[in-house]
Amino acid sequence: MKTRTPRETLTEKIEIVLPQHANAIGTAFGGTVMSWIDICAAVAAQRHCGRVAVTASVDALDFLSPLRVGDVAVLRAWVNAAFRTSLEVECVVEREDTATGARVLCVDARLTFVNLGEDGKPLPVPGLTPETDEEHARREAAERRRAARLSARK
Ligand SMILES: CC(C)(COP(=O)(O)OP(=O)(O)OC[C@H]1O[C@@H](n2cnc3c(N)ncnc32)[C@H](O)[C@@H]1OP(=O)(O)O)[C@@H](O)C(=O)NCCC(=O)NCCS
Repeated sequence: MKTRTPRETLTEKIEIVLPQHANAIGTAFGGTVMSWIDICAAVAAQRHCGRVAVTASVDALDFLSPLRVGDVAVLRAWVNAAFRTSLEVECVVEREDTATGARVLCVDARLTFVNLGEDGKPLPVPGLTPETDEEHARREAAERRRAARLSARK
């Protein structure tokens, strides 16, 4: 199986926060943003696996700064680490000032996806080859989180 780099899995999705996405105080409804994140992260996972991968868990999701009606939301997702049949994908959502290009981090999320075969059973995933120091650090951090998760389940 050909290994992939995090760069090959990088997925970007743009949304404009419309009135129908807002809650009662004019900021984006969290569930809508979570749905955007799930889609963006799923495509990153599928780019890695070359086939359908399902969301197994949302491991972390922090709303750090609000998105308001009219804001341009830029989502980016990439694979942090590939395990046996599962992957950790990170997705960030930033608010972009289109006049200056400045971006503010609004959401940081990490999700686990599982690669499924034709029979619906988990299938081994290709390995991940980090290219940069940051990508290596992200993979190591993901491996530590997985080890902690597995030991907590015992
Ligand atoms: C995710 C799913 C395929 C796992 O199936 P399973 O029979 O439990 O598979 P296994 O126990 O063999 O685990 C397979 C992998 O998934 C991982 N996994 C399973 N449940 C997990 C969870 N809750 N969180 C994180 N990872 C999980 C395991 O650690 C394992 O990873 P590894 O192979 O890299 O070591 C199954 O639970 C499922 O189909 N869930 C519904 C998924 C879905 O419908 N998602 C859409 C959103 S509703």
